[in-house]
Amino acid sequence: MHLGLENKVVLVTGGTKGIGRSITRGFLDEGSIVHFCSRTKADVEASEKQLAKDYPQAKAYGSTVDVADQTQLENWVTSCAEQNGRLDVVVANVSALAIEDTAESWRKAFETDLLGLHVLTQAAIPHLEKTGGNIVTISSVSGRDIDFTTPSPYGPAKAAVIHYTASLARKLAPKGVRANTCSPGNIYINDGVWGNVEKNMPELFKSQMDKNPMGRMGKAEEISDVVCFLASERASFVSGTNVCADGALCQGVQF
Ligand SMILES: NC(=O)c1ccc[n+]([C@@H]2O[C@H](COP(=O)([O-])OP(=O)(O)OC[C@H]3O[C@@H](n4cnc5c(N)ncnc54)[C@H](OP(=O)(O)O)[C@@H]3O)[C@@H](O)[C@H]2O)c1
Repeated sequence: MHLGLENKVVLVTGGTKGIGRSITRGFLDEGSIVHFCSRTKADVEASEKQLAKDYPQAKAYGSTVDVADQTQLENWVTSCAEQNGRLDVVVANVSALAIEDTAESWRKAFETDLLGLHVLTQAAIPHLEKTGGNIVTISSVSGRDIDFTTPSPYGPAKAAVIHYTASLARKLAPKGVRANTCSPGNIYINDGVWGNVEKNMPELFKSQMDKNPMGRMGKAEEISDVVCFLASERASFVSGTNVCADGALCQGVQF
């Protein structure tokens, strides 16, 4: 299937590690121009170097941005749009991964997952309206299941991401802009969240691994493929939906 993402200008938040790194590479594989960000300058520079090596013809630009900082985030969106004269896709991937049930954790989840999403999308929408672009947000199965992360702000924040994305889809449909969510299940990446759990909390790792009906966790590419499809013209009539990519981990029926 040809996705038609060549030369599309794509923003990915949190692109130096984990799922965001795979999403960045997924769009580069499709010939898109990708701008990614994270908070750690050294990681941004190392990622840019690695991408230049792995994709010599590709255009991949990293920036040091904290999505919880409104000014930094707005400036990043504006400068990427100005640099390319357009913006086609925005992927809101970052989460505070706030799984402690404390006031500080709730504050982080609000500022990063929710306010960060609001600021990112509001800055991007005027540009997306010009190109008929789209938004993909990354939620989690924790947004719909009472799982090992509860009680904490993580699940409520992820549920709110799905809700807000669907409401943006309704509002923006007449303007030709789509918005969708992808909700990953457990995604195993060596140097990622589950790789760390495997090393440092083997009992939690085993209990979660045992819950996966496919007998395995997902691969990062199994999320980036869904994201690239949702962002592509092949999904031109898909808006306001939430695609669970979880290997049937969730037990609730999705209607
Ligand atoms: N991994 C899973 O199994 C799983 C399952 C379901 C959903 N998800 C969702 O998938 C998304 C990515 O998770 P992940 O597991 O890939 O995380 P990860 O491996 O920890 O990577 C997170 C990335 O985001 C960056 N980042 C974190 N906070 C940031 C901020 N405030 N501003 C800018 N960049 C920031 C990190 O770099 P810096 O720290 O240097 O900023 C890093 O590049 C999240 O929304 C998560 O909820 C993950």
